[in-house]
Amino acid sequence: MAKKSISDIEVSGRKVLMRVDFNVPLDSDCAITDDRRIRGAIPSIRSVIDRGGQLILCSHLGQPKEGEDPSRYSLRPAAVRLAELLEQPVAFAEDTIGADAEVNVSALTDGAVVLLENLRFNPGEKKGDAEFSARLAAFADIYCNDAFGTCHRSHASMVGVPAAMEGKPRVVGFLVQKEIQYLSDAIASPRRPFVAILGGKKVSDKIRVIENLLGICDKVLIGGAMAYTFALAKGGQVGSSMVEPDRVELAKKLIASGGDKLVLPVDTHCGDDFSSDCNKQVVAAGEIPDGFEGFDIGPETARKYAEMVSTAGTVVWNGPMGVFEMSPFDEGTRAVAQAIADSSATSIIGGGDSAAAIQQLGFADQVTHVSTGGGASLSMLEGQVFPAVELLDEA
Ligand code: 3PG
Repeated sequence: MAKKSISDIEVSGRKVLMRVDFNVPLDSDCAITDDRRIRGAIPSIRSVIDRGGQLILCSHLGQPKEGEDPSRYSLRPAAVRLAELLEQPVAFAEDTIGADAEVNVSALTDGAVVLLENLRFNPGEKKGDAEFSARLAAFADIYCNDAFGTCHRSHASMVGVPAAMEGKPRVVGFLVQKEIQYLSDAIASPRRPFVAILGGKKVSDKIRVIENLLGICDKVLIGGAMAYTFALAKGGQVGSSMVEPDRVELAKKLIASGGDKLVLPVDTHCGDDFSSDCNKQVVAAGEIPDGFEGFDIGPETARKYAEMVSTAGTVVWNGPMGVFEMSPFDEGTRAVAQAIADSSATSIIGGGDSAAAIQQLGFADQVTHVSTGGGASLSMLEGQVFPAVELLDEA
């Protein structure tokens, strides 16, 4: 069901509490190393401030634990970066519901922005605490969720706050709207053939995605280290490859239930040490010799997968095909990324490692959608429904 969006709401002179996902990576000097999540929220932010709304932004950053230096988790660098991107001042409140937040929120003028400090500095955030939710909710006239990366969480700012704001407008931002359009709607009524490419280390991380996509896709292509657990399930030799012995029975069931739809690699690029200059060889799948481990799909698999992608109407990709950070074991992932970039299919790239891979390989501009959510995009591909989105106003 389509949700009402921020552009449907009159915001002039009104306070808008917008939950964003500014959980960005920081280096040891607390400098932001990838600002895509901040840039991703700019259209919604602009929609509010350009129409004279008073914007209160809130987010988490990392998973701060008691006893750790809180300055490592401060959102202040995000406020600085956002001010650069907006080319206007962004106030920063040193707390979330404390005195500094109250002063900053009261001082907001039309078109101005304040970013509150990390929500997770307050234990009430992760617990979904009602009092914490009510205090945040009291700041605003309108609630907007543009935090796609956090939509699979039911924390206070995601669920408790909009629940406490019942009767006031509660809408999605443009980023959440776009992510739902691709990760849910496009998948529910795909152009066919619909091909999913799933990689990554563990079958256990992807079981529900594989099961869900086997139900709706025409082909599910498997790569990454999880292919070696499938190879074991077929009675193959995997040398010292990374495998999950306790998931072999599950892999057998998936092979049986998937039938022709589930496509496994036919060859493997393996090496005798985890380094670029190790001894390498390409072997048939399930024939990895002792002392070697699989690091990538082989060239025949890459060719086969690229061919299937070239005739697809919709492609979803989640998880690299091999150790794409280490040449030459990036070749399988590169071949798949190139095929997706070249195809005319609606192409949807899951967040996390796949988003990083497509970015690093330089194909991000040639695909339809790159998700900003790691866990959230995976949960959506599993077919999960998010309470954080469900309770927002229908269009
Ligand atoms: C993410 O990076 O996946 C989101 O920001 C959610 O973060 P979390 O896994 O710490 O809840």
